[in-house]
Amino acid sequence: MSLQNFLADDQLSKKQTLELIELAKKIKTNPADYAQALAGKSVAMIFEKPSLRTHVSFDMGINKLGGHALYLGQQNGKLGERERISDYANNLSCYADAIVARVFSNDSIEGLAKHASVPVVNALCDVYHPCQSLADFVTLSETFDDLEKVKLAYIGDGNNVSNSLMIMAATLGVDFTLVCPEGHGPSKEILAKTASFAAQSGAKFSYTNNIDELGQQDAIYTDTWVSMGDEDPTKKALILEKFASYQVNHELMNKAGANVVMHCQPAHLGEEITEELFDSEMSVVFQEAENRMWAQNAVLVTLLTD
Ligand code: NVA
Repeated sequence: MSLQNFLADDQLSKKQTLELIELAKKIKTNPADYAQALAGKSVAMIFEKPSLRTHVSFDMGINKLGGHALYLGQQNGKLGERERISDYANNLSCYADAIVARVFSNDSIEGLAKHASVPVVNALCDVYHPCQSLADFVTLSETFDDLEKVKLAYIGDGNNVSNSLMIMAATLGVDFTLVCPEGHGPSKEILAKTASFAAQSGAKFSYTNNIDELGQQDAIYTDTWVSMGDEDPTKKALILEKFASYQVNHELMNKAGANVVMHCQPAHLGEEITEELFDSEMSVVFQEAENRMWAQNAVLVTLLTD
């Protein structure tokens, strides 16, 4: 498969997404076969925001492929401030074989991709988190026999994680329900993109503000009610009140008949998900975390060796 960059879920076809999922599972099952896949290659990793899973899974994943990962934190200042994004991209392209970037703005990802002469991977921005959604569909495909029969719902804040998840679900033909409090849903543009992918694949997609309209589900997903970069201590109490009835807990799982709960982490236990449910047998959160590494390795192998 030929892939130039890995920037956003809406740039992947159903075939490409399914191939990446299969490759991730293949690398997971036979890591030794890929131990030299990135031999002699280096990946520069830019992080404007904090990270545990993304930083570690890229670093250790690249090591498992025989490549070299370099972490670039905030020592060079915010992207585009000390140097233009184009200069950042052009300089890194002199040394690195790929650029992985976690940034505040999607414009930075697009700027890097426009100017770099090497592939760019979006490791989270304000609009998308495609590495997470790919890992989540690897997890779902390990959990359910047929992805096209899965009913998946996301409950909570309409954010980068839900955007990526619903676009990928629509692309793959997965039945997806989005439930967000009023005023916290996705942009019109993301809704329109999702609807058009769903029309193409024949997937069912619904969006509501009413938690009572959730319906029967196989898996339920949630994420933080306040994403990195959006923190405002003066609004915290209001958010907690507005989102309270959208908490994912045992009662909600029972009502929806779902027995798989997902979360990209970090989780705010007692807020979007209860600690009991997060720690329960229904939770696949650590499988998702592990699959981040295999999914990203599939992306890197595809970008750098195909
Ligand atoms: N929506 C969250 C995801 C963290 C992995 C955030 O952007 O902070």
